[in-house]
Amino acid sequence: MLALIDGLPVARRQPNLLLAAVRFLGGPVEDYPAFREWVTAHWPRLHTTMLERRTQTNEPGRCATLLPVLAGLPQPLALIEVGASAGLCLYPDRYRYRYDDLPPLGPADGPVLACRTAGPVPIPERPPSVVWRAGVDLNPLDVRSAQDVRWLECLVWPGQPDRLDRLREAVRVARADPPFLVRGDLNRIVRDLVSRVPSGATPVVMHSAVLAYLSPEERDTFVTATRDLPGHWISNEAPHVLPSVAARLPRPIPRHRATFVLSLDGHPLALTDPHGGSMEWLTP
Ligand SMILES: C[S@@+](CC[C@H](N)C(=O)[O-])C[C@H]1O[C@@H](n2cnc3c(N)ncnc32)[C@H](O)[C@@H]1O
Repeated sequence: MLALIDGLPVARRQPNLLLAAVRFLGGPVEDYPAFREWVTAHWPRLHTTMLERRTQTNEPGRCATLLPVLAGLPQPLALIEVGASAGLCLYPDRYRYRYDDLPPLGPADGPVLACRTAGPVPIPERPPSVVWRAGVDLNPLDVRSAQDVRWLECLVWPGQPDRLDRLREAVRVARADPPFLVRGDLNRIVRDLVSRVPSGATPVVMHSAVLAYLSPEERDTFVTATRDLPGHWISNEAPHVLPSVAARLPRPIPRHRATFVLSLDGHPLALTDPHGGSMEWLTP
């Protein structure tokens, strides 16, 4: 298995890409011996699928950790998501949220995103007002395409039925009003998208689980350009991805902790579960 995986380009040797490709082609993921046998027997097809497709996991649950920051900005908002995948994180105003044991907030028919909190998280009373939304991705996925949605479903890790339900609910929300997504590199497109924001709305450039796919130089280019743009910048990424943000953390993050750092305009505000299930606010 490892020898086969070693034959892939480094960027494609991702466990979730392998698992997703096996599921996409109808292989078993419940039992390791059966999985290994299937992978070795079907490697040429699997290899092709792993080169053709990308890790584009779109996790609407992340909106639960973005919400306290979005709701604290001057309303209404114009959201520009870079690395948007199918754009499911562009609908924070259409989902319903349950923070700890508090009464839920958000539209009654929205999918429920549960989030445990620690520290003084400024839990909003109502979702933000979003008047415009757009995204950019190297390969935008289309919520109206059955094949694209199937790939998104395959990217949910095996054994996580709750995430799968949440994804399907979010796809239903997005299909009712599909997002405006531009194909291209975020560094080439972001400025143009910000320039299209309607007057009176606060531009918010945001991203989660994206910058790890860029080289350090491309990340620097993005950060420098974004700091010059009007509006605000929300980042939700692994700590090592943006060292300038991580350097401002009030305390070091234990090495074993799988967490993202949520920041506003380069200032870290919270540590967040990478799929949005919890958040810990860092500052008073
Ligand atoms: C792991 S997904 C995250 C999707 C979404 N932000 C979320 O949190 O659910 C990363 C996405 O970033 C996109 N991406 C990676 N590098 C990019 C680049 N240079 N420009 C635009 N999109 C990029 C990928 O195509 C993929 O859809």
